[in-house]
Amino acid sequence: PAPTWERDVDVVVLGSGAAGLSAALALRPVRSVLVVTKDVLEAGSTQWAQGGLAGVLDPADSAENHVRDTLAAGAGLCDEAVVRELVDEAPKSIRYLMRLGAAFDPSHDPEPRPGFDLDIALTREGGHSHDRIVHSGGDRSGAEVQRTLDESALGAGVDVMNHTFALDLVMGVGVDGAEQCAGVSVARTDRNGVVQSVGTVNARAVVIACGGYGQVFASTSNPPAVTGDGIAMALRAGLPVRDMEFVQFHPTVMWRGPDARGQQALVSEAVRGEGAKLYDAAGERIMLGVHPQEDLAPRDVVSAAVSRRMAEAPGGVDDHVYLDATHLGERFYERFPSITAACREIGLDPATERIPVAPAAHYSCGGITAALDGSTALRGLYAVGEVSSTGVHGANRLASNSLTESIVAGTRVGRDLAWELPGPARVVVDPTDDPLAPPLFDPVRLREVKAAMSRHVGVVRSASSLSSALGALGSLARHMQQRTDGGVEPSRRSWEATNLLTIASAVVSSALARTESRGAHRRSDHPEQDDAWVRHLETVLDAVGAI
Ligand code: SIN
Repeated sequence: PAPTWERDVDVVVLGSGAAGLSAALALRPVRSVLVVTKDVLEAGSTQWAQGGLAGVLDPADSAENHVRDTLAAGAGLCDEAVVRELVDEAPKSIRYLMRLGAAFDPSHDPEPRPGFDLDIALTREGGHSHDRIVHSGGDRSGAEVQRTLDESALGAGVDVMNHTFALDLVMGVGVDGAEQCAGVSVARTDRNGVVQSVGTVNARAVVIACGGYGQVFASTSNPPAVTGDGIAMALRAGLPVRDMEFVQFHPTVMWRGPDARGQQALVSEAVRGEGAKLYDAAGERIMLGVHPQEDLAPRDVVSAAVSRRMAEAPGGVDDHVYLDATHLGERFYERFPSITAACREIGLDPATERIPVAPAAHYSCGGITAALDGSTALRGLYAVGEVSSTGVHGANRLASNSLTESIVAGTRVGRDLAWELPGPARVVVDPTDDPLAPPLFDPVRLREVKAAMSRHVGVVRSASSLSSALGALGSLARHMQQRTDGGVEPSRRSWEATNLLTIASAVVSSALARTESRGAHRRSDHPEQDDAWVRHLETVLDAVGAI
């Protein structure tokens, strides 16, 4: 058996992207805080974000505009009060990052914007009525946010445990007898995910900031680490998660052939913000006449239009369309260096050629039900960033609101917990409890889960496609085995596979239940939005561990 250990801290933060590190940084001056990450600090989605952070900085724009755009994209499921809180704090969060040392791209406007006191460029993305996205390194905005927070958190003495997988929440009882989260069981692994030791981190507060679940699909803009671990853990602990059906598909992910799997290069919406247009294989504009904002319509509208055009191609179903940014010429290289590099990898010059693109899974709008200060239904447990569902994104997230939300919510939970921690909890230890005992899903079969999700639960779903997915997942669930059965060895890969199987079931069951089309959830058998569905859908794990 692996050696075991225990550690006591005030707060343990699970995840090391923008949300987790913002929380840790705000906590550090007054609390002992440990960041647990299953890989290295920058392995999550933050590092890959291209577009930037949305916030009203230009006096010609207004908070009211940003609220209106966010609510319109969210298609009736945003919580307006929470959106207002986010929008009010967004400019502060950008200025805060700048004070921490983040370098946003300077403005090249020949005339400064009247009354705008910062020399930074503001751009536009889908669904925004004004220029309000700040970016860095052209299309390397997330990498700059990650670098800034890595340096700030480490510089402030935040303690980090790399290559440490969070297994399950440790439940306790507060002084008033109510259930309370008391810590987390974890496994330290080597770089390949092989278990080295098993431990318990006892904490007065656990902050889950593990990101979304793009890797439940065969093709996604998300890096390999994005496997829904925090949401699956919350489900196992009996917490409700909501809106799992609202998976946002980004309309322009680079298409590298029918067999490309896993993380694919994003072609930022900012490229369309700079004037690029979508074309089908016959050379016809796709977004003309579809929406007043044409190629800069909200993301769900563009993804649905692209999918429809691919499905209705005259010669059968097309698997990609084209993005034309050639009007930018060689300016493309400087403005979008990461996308230029990805194009060159496939031998393409974006200054003179159209880029092949297709929709792919990008952002998980749903997650653990939480307030914008991270608080959840369980005392002592907090959720921030993509792992949470706070009411900011509704049925479809507005572009570049997510890094902003991560900084705002992460900093808020950190500041609140710096002020006051939940009371102590007594852990009721079951001596027979072995964190390595639960049955695990065979990672070798994970490819089949992803294939079923991409095939049946993509941009457009139906009762029939979702039932096929449910059937496939049901048969695959038979490959859950305990180590003691001679089955699956505990390792990072098998925990991730198990979490993804749970997530896939949650997405399919919510997508089946929501018999309408709204935001990022489109049903060919229920093509209309239905007012009876202006509500959230909660998912819980039942007593036998099924969704
Ligand atoms: C993009 O750059 O297109 C992605 C921005 C986002 O997802 O918010």
